[in-house]
Amino acid sequence: MAEIFSANTKDPISNPDDVRNFLKIKGIEYRFWDTNANSKPLLSRTSLSDSEKEELLQCFEDRFNELKSDYSYKSRDMIVLNPEIPGLDGMLAKFDKWHYHTDDEVRYIIDGSGIFGFHIQGEKFEVKVSQNDFISVPANTNHWFKLDEHKKIKAIRYFQDMSGWTPVYIDEADLVSSK
Ligand SMILES: [Fe+2]
Repeated sequence: MAEIFSANTKDPISNPDDVRNFLKIKGIEYRFWDTNANSKPLLSRTSLSDSEKEELLQCFEDRFNELKSDYSYKSRDMIVLNPEIPGLDGMLAKFDKWHYHTDDEVRYIIDGSGIFGFHIQGEKFEVKVSQNDFISVPANTNHWFKLDEHKKIKAIRYFQDMSGWTPVYIDEADLVSSK
């Protein structure tokens, strides 16, 4: 279950309804989606070949079909990050600075964890996501993403338009609330 950390609230927000409501107010969709039993053997592996990733994606095809009917997502892929990946820190450095995308950033965390940072409606807050968390960040939302100390995550990414995936960087000094 996602946890939210904000300077505006004394304690982290971790109650499921509170998390969902907080993010909804900020324009971010959140769902708690249990991973299924079929996926467990592959989820437990640290690294996956391309064919194993596709096999694992098939375990979650019902989720993709649900998103295709609710929205207009056209494609999906899987990102698998762990300390064994060569150049991991360089890869992560693309996303740990303030940026936005012209397409939604849609992630279903199926293993591991990571942290999103946001600046929305004048409030800076962090959302720690982990297994079973689905999050849809609207296009043009200022954010960053980093891994936590475990440096491990498996996430399915859903796309409407792959060209919208390029990060557009912004200076922290120029941060403005997302529309
Ligand atoms: Fe991003």
